[in-house]
Amino acid sequence: MRVLVTGGAGFIGANFVLQTLAERPDAQVTVLDSLTYAGNRESLDSVADRIDFVHGDIADLDLVDELVSGVDTVVHFAAESHNDNSLSDPWPFVQTNVIGTFSLLQAVRRYDVRYHHISTDEVYGDLELDDPERFTESTPYNPSSPYSSTKASSDLLVRAWTRSFGVRATISNCSNNYGPFQHVEKFIPRQITNLIDGVRPRLYGSGTNVRDWIHVDDHNRAVWAILDRGRIGQTYLIGADGELDNRAVVQMLLAEFGRESDDFDFVTDRAGHDLRYAIDSTLLRTELGWEPQFHDFRDGLAATVQWYRENESWWRRRKEAVEHAYAAQGERTLPQP
Ligand code: NAD
Ligand code: TYD
Repeated sequence: MRVLVTGGAGFIGANFVLQTLAERPDAQVTVLDSLTYAGNRESLDSVADRIDFVHGDIADLDLVDELVSGVDTVVHFAAESHNDNSLSDPWPFVQTNVIGTFSLLQAVRRYDVRYHHISTDEVYGDLELDDPERFTESTPYNPSSPYSSTKASSDLLVRAWTRSFGVRATISNCSNNYGPFQHVEKFIPRQITNLIDGVRPRLYGSGTNVRDWIHVDDHNRAVWAILDRGRIGQTYLIGADGELDNRAVVQMLLAEFGRESDDFDFVTDRAGHDLRYAIDSTLLRTELGWEPQFHDFRDGLAATVQWYRENESWWRRRKEAVEHAYAAQGERTLPQP
């Protein structure tokens, strides 16, 4: 199988490429990535001689047309992916997430190439903390941020291209991922690298917001289950029953570093901060037989901490820029409640 992986130098895309080459030796992988601040070619160092790496933009129609003409399958991970950045500068989110997806859809339509679209549960908006409901494939779209609204827009383009032009597409909407190679701007790697540096973790608002955590390898195995056995035109939700509030995650990290459980700071909350995400992945489990392999979040988190301890050269250069950006966005420590 010849696979074009967009965003393969990012967190989930790089893990997808590594997993694919480890588990599917016949796969021929081309990565298309524009190496934004979030892309890191070093994540692919261990497989550099086994992939074709193309440094380019998914919104470049001619380049995308040429690359798509030579593959059987496109797996589209490339995106602007961070909510906080989307609040300070939304334009790149519209350009990459909407126009970039349009460009890929036009090419897969032209060459009748199988297309899988990676999306997020954030397209559904948020749930109340005490709501027994979880998101399903039929939950109405109700995105809150420029990030989630541009992802929702791209999902709708995929649905329209499938119905109107017969594009052979599937969509997956996954919950929050953790694991190696995640950019230090994101919640878990930010707190791990703070703790390595002896800095207190920083919780937005009251720390009660809930995320539904899944290990990145479980996400990527679900993507392969959809590529292998998924129904064209179908959306699948991917989640591993990993609901935890942010404070609980920080307290697990503090325990991992041998620090007191109240050794963190509350900082300015995110504007429009979604309260809770929760995924019902029954369809994926019953129809495609997928099950997560990481059952204990605490173990997966400990392995992730170990990875950041052992790979400081991978993240160190980006840490200072990230903390500078958060400070420039007005983040400040709040009095303890
Ligand atoms: P990331 O920010 O770590 O990586 C994004 C990659 O896309 C980077 O390598 C970047 O250089 C590349 N890129 C950005 N703009 C590009 C462009 N115009 N052309 C080519 N390449 C470009 O993101 P991630 O966390 O790996 O997320 C990957 C996908 O998974 C995204 O579509 C995101 O919406 C989705 N997703 C992420 C999560 C999560 O928890 N991180 C959860 C669900 C879904
Ligand atoms: P994030 O990793 O940005 O993912 P998302 O916004 O897509 O869920 O944030 C995860 C949660 O952690 C979210 O509720 C915001 C919160 N958060 C903090 O409390 N402190 C931080 O320093 C960051 C970056 C996020």
